[in-house]
Amino acid sequence: MDDSAIGEILVPAEDLQRRVRELGAEISRDYEGRDLIMIGVLKGAVLFLADLMRELTVPCEIDFMAVSSYGSETDSSGVVRILKDLDSSIEGRNVVIVEDIIDSGLTLQYLLRNLRARNPASVEVCALLTKPDRRRVDLPIRYVGFEIPNRYVIGYGLDYAQRYRNLGCVAVLNDSDH
Ligand code: IMP
Ligand code: MG
Repeated sequence: MDDSAIGEILVPAEDLQRRVRELGAEISRDYEGRDLIMIGVLKGAVLFLADLMRELTVPCEIDFMAVSSYGSETDSSGVVRILKDLDSSIEGRNVVIVEDIIDSGLTLQYLLRNLRARNPASVEVCALLTKPDRRRVDLPIRYVGFEIPNRYVIGYGLDYAQRYRNLGCVAVLNDSDH
């Protein structure tokens, strides 16, 4: 894609693929013999979840939630609204929340509270990316793909104004012309 908004490549496609394979192997080991439902957070986690589930050697189900957090385009407020809820109950199930990126952590904090209230057997989090410098709440994130610096990134599911999700790599958004 030839586009001036695409800046420095932070995570090349090959590194994403290798890490997703590793995470898939780790989750497969951890959930051997246990029931597993992976919950993708729309829309950013779609590419990650699709690749991750193909690396699992254990049976798994998937479901999706869509949430919107009030705030500016690049800053979440922690006030979250559910746009699409799960199709089925997670009571007694082992849940892994699959997220594209944890920034302030406020969206995930809300999701964890909301899902734990439904009495699952367990809830863990698998995030492709985290920005530790931006974290405002301390959360247990069991599986992390990559820690990245405090830059706004696009690609591999992550958007800027709904575009660039289809980039194969994770790149910094060039904000010079935005
Ligand atoms: P948080 O509530 O601040 O942790 O924000 C989490 C959500 O904001 C993520 O699930 C993304 O949808 C979005 N987000 C945060 N940082 C970025 C970024 O660098 N690029 C694209 N989306 C981001
Ligand atoms: Mg998200």
